[in-house]
Parts: sequence; C-alpha cells; structure tokens
Amino acid sequence: MTDISKINGDFSGKDILSLDQFEQSDLQLLFQAVPEYKNLADANKPSTILAGHVVTELFYEPSSRTFGSFFSAISRLGGTVLPIQNPETVSSVAKGETLEDTIKTFASYSSAIVMRSKETGSAKRAALAVDVPIVNAGDGTGEHPTQALLDIYTIFEKFGKTSDVKGVMVGDLRNGRTVHSLLKALSLFPNNHMYLLSPQSLQLPKELLQELSKKDMMLTQITSEKEIPQDAHFWYWTRVQKERFADLEEYERTKHAFILTPKLLKERGNKNLILMHPLPRVGEIEETVDEDPRAYYFKQMRNGLYLRMALFAKILGKK
Ligand code: NCD
Repeated sequence: MTDISKINGDFSGKDILSLDQFEQSDLQLLFQAVPEYKNLADANKPSTILAGHVVTELFYEPSSRTFGSFFSAISRLGGTVLPIQNPETVSSVAKGETLEDTIKTFASYSSAIVMRSKETGSAKRAALAVDVPIVNAGDGTGEHPTQALLDIYTIFEKFGKTSDVKGVMVGDLRNGRTVHSLLKALSLFPNNHMYLLSPQSLQLPKELLQELSKKDMMLTQITSEKEIPQDAHFWYWTRVQKERFADLEEYERTKHAFILTPKLLKERGNKNLILMHPLPRVGEIEETVDEDPRAYYFKQMRNGLYLRMALFAKILGKK
C-alpha cells in the first residue's frame, strides 16, 4: 500500500493525487526546477533521466492534450510510455475487471501510472492498491493537480510571485477540477484574492469554499463581468463541463453564460493581465482574443510540458 503522504520536500516515489499534499516550499522546489527542463525541451536535447522506466498512461476519459503532454514529457526524459486510452473498450475493463485489478496489472509492467478517470477519488483508490506512484491526471470533478502546478507556475513565471496576487476564475467552478486544484495551490500563499464568476448553479462546491475560507486567501463571489476588478493579474476562464451534466438543457442554458471577448478585455482588462484557460475551449473565449498579447493559454500549455518533465524527474529520476 502506498502512503498517500505529504510531499515534504521529497517527491521521490510519491503519488501526486491532490494539492492537499503540497506546502509552499514544495511548489517552490518545482518552480526552481522548471527552467532546466525548459532548456532541455526547447533545445530538443536527449536525456536519460528516465532511461529504463516505463510509465503507463491509463486514461478512462477522452484526452489528447494532457495525454500528449505527459507522453512528450516522459519521452523527452528518455522514458517509455505504455499508452492505454479508453480501457473500457480496449482492455479487460470491458470484461468487468475492477479498477484495482487493472491498476495492479499495469503496476507490474511499469514504474508509475498516470491516470485519468471519471470518478472523484479513484486516483486515491488506485494509489492504495499498488506501490508504484500514481499521478492523478484528473479524477471526475475532483482534482487535476498537475494542471494546477503548471497554472501556478505560469503565474509565478509571469509575475515573479504567487502571493499578493489578484485573479478572476470564470465558468464551471462546480465541476471544473482544474479550478479546485488551482484554488488550493493559490491558498498556500498569503494574501491572494480570487474573484469567482459563474452561473448560480455552477458555483464552487460548498465544502471547498469552507475549506478555503480557513486559509489566508480572500474569495469574492461576483455575478457579472462588470464586477471584474480592473487590476487583476490573471483571468482563468474555463469550459462548462458538458460531460458532468445529467440535464443537457441546463448545460445549454449555462455553457456560454460568460464569454471572453475583445470588448470585455478592453472594458475590464489592464495591460499586464494574462488570460489563462486549461483548454480545450468550446466557444467561451472568442478566437479573435488569441491575437491579443495577453492571451497566454498556449504558452501556459507549453509550460505544462516543462512542469511535467520537472515533476517526473523528481518522482522517478535518480536523487
Ligand atoms: C481540463 C480537464 O480535463 O479537466 N483539461 C485539461 O486537462 N487541460 C479542462 C477541461 O477539460 O475543461
């Protein structure tokens, strides 16, 4: 059984399941490591850091960017990926195999498992079943820790700090696991102020709101774009998570409640602002916004590659 423990300054062999495992100093360790991997990746330099390691990517939900980002990160470090997408259709899962049995199978073939699943809490279940590190690449509406790590790194890279930061989070705050993890990450640093803008039915889950209210972070729920503070450091726009809706009419009603347009940017933006989105977008950021130098989402995505390299080097690389 793997210990679902705090990182405590040492990533070696650890599961990455939730931002609850992290302290400020763990994030700082990662931030310091990223530039080295950026240099490797930008120069396409070969690396042997993960030589000999096979990492399974087990993805129960559609994914191309996160799947590709991990694939690229592991390959660039000299590791090999065992890719399993849609195990419900291609593997013994289709025969009714339990999650635990599937995980034990791939744990016996590989040094670590990157897993994306539909059920909140299943990455933790997987971690309890085996000794190899499990990296949660999104568990239902729960968390998406590596996305939050690359998001907060992007804020750090741009502003040189992750405290005294003002941000706006927009869209599906109820179901958006990247939002949940990023808020937890930001709450580790003092004096951040987050404005939360979503349709009434898609507000942040109450339990998370309560948990965050104990931290040194201000949260302000707003109901209209007009309340977006003009001195924000970042806007973090998100997609309304269609796959989480039982009632598709409710999805249709809410999906484009808030759209980022050049006009809104002009009215509420400032010149140093960055526009973030975990992607994919489905109409909630107009494509004409891409031409604006403040559109940061593709850069943010490239940071994900560097960050995942740094993370894997720390989990599996030699000390
Ligand atoms: C996000 C996810 O899967 O939670 N995508 C991603 O990993 N970049 C966000 C989303 O799908 O809306």
